[in-house]
Amino acid sequence: MLRMTNSTVGIIGAGAMGSGIAQVAAQAGWNVILIDQSLDSLEKSQAQLTKVCNRLVEKNRLTSQESSALQQRILRFTAFDHLAPCTLIIEAIVENKEVKQRVFAQIEEIVSNECILATNTSSLSVTGLASSLKHPERFLGLHFFNPAPLMQLVEVIAAMQTNPEHIDRCNAWMNAWKKVPVRAKDTPGFIVNRLARPFYGEALRIVEEELASPAQVDDAMKSVGFRMGPFELMDLIGNDVNYAVTVSVFEAFYFDPRYRPSLIQKKHVEAGWLGRKSGRGYYRYDGQPGESITEATGELSWIHQRIVALLINEAADALSMRIASAQDLELAMTRGVNYPKGLLTWANDWGIASVLDQLQALQNRYGEDRYRPAPILRDMAEKNLLFDLGTS
Ligand SMILES: NC(=O)c1ccc[n+]([C@@H]2O[C@H](COP(=O)([O-])OP(=O)(O)OC[C@H]3O[C@@H](n4cnc5c(N)ncnc54)[C@H](O)[C@@H]3O)[C@@H](O)[C@H]2O)c1
Repeated sequence: MLRMTNSTVGIIGAGAMGSGIAQVAAQAGWNVILIDQSLDSLEKSQAQLTKVCNRLVEKNRLTSQESSALQQRILRFTAFDHLAPCTLIIEAIVENKEVKQRVFAQIEEIVSNECILATNTSSLSVTGLASSLKHPERFLGLHFFNPAPLMQLVEVIAAMQTNPEHIDRCNAWMNAWKKVPVRAKDTPGFIVNRLARPFYGEALRIVEEELASPAQVDDAMKSVGFRMGPFELMDLIGNDVNYAVTVSVFEAFYFDPRYRPSLIQKKHVEAGWLGRKSGRGYYRYDGQPGESITEATGELSWIHQRIVALLINEAADALSMRIASAQDLELAMTRGVNYPKGLLTWANDWGIASVLDQLQALQNRYGEDRYRPAPILRDMAEKNLLFDLGTS
């Protein structure tokens, strides 16, 4: 299962993401230099990896020799000067532009000119981060998902300055690491964090209007194949984290109403009802009875139709803006967030004209720009076309 290579990756930040990425790289046979300013983080990361490896050995997924080889392949330091032999650096420190830029400036003084520098940022502009480097052409985004050893998707993001050859190399490396790389333009939320916004936003809107309860919305989405409903998922992710991503995407898109955050989510954050981690979110996890909530009556398929239509609209818009290829948009949502099928496939199956009807009905009802259909959907419905999902 493990392969040996002489390649060395430097990973900066031994938190949730950095530790997971280190495991992925070591499992693929790479040597890893894991750096963190905090010795405590490095020690916790090492202890966590030992636990994971022991579990993999128990389940016969690794032999004990492979487990110790994997662990020995990761060296941990607090000082950056150990990064000199690296061919690739992946930064996964705190989500702060100035701190990240300072760290990359330090790294550039240590690594060779051939070393590729990547950030795992979820919300910062890759182009903006590249701009402070001496060699911005070797900088790009490698956006892993949490937990990195389990989630297959990696978004590979070119900054405006990036040399395309480095994108090809990273794509090949991610394949060798047994990941599913997709190429995304450097735009807010990249693919997944942009396309998934209506899954939460429209669900919240339905509940905010008291058209249905969170449990009804969750049931509706699970009835069409989603593993978790939006409210269950927000409670798992944490309302504070989910709200922060929405706010960041909304601001980055110059306050486009399509991404407007929800007041009820804000109230949940203010109340400290963050979800599972605080014992209460949209559901209660502390054994106390929940509040009585307005429930919808009658036929409820409108719930998933409304949310899925907005998800498809987002995917169609991203495709027409060339954020990614149709195939990569599909892979991103099925491998990154385990959607039951890709959103463009869903549009083809449902019928583009029906999706358009849904969106137009919502736009007529509310008169809001939030529901404007992507122009590509109108064009396709008019010409009776389907999304071409055959090529990348
Ligand atoms: N957590 C997620 O779900 C997720 C998913 C995708 C991407 N990301 C992104 O990955 C990055 C890291 O997120 P995380 O959740 O692993 O954070 P985390 O808080 O778990 O870990 C960050 C680590 O970086 C270290 N660090 C901070 N500043 C440093 C510096 N100047 N030099 C060296 N080490 C430093 C901290 O000590 C800490 O151990 C962020 O940019 C985040 O946006 C997070």
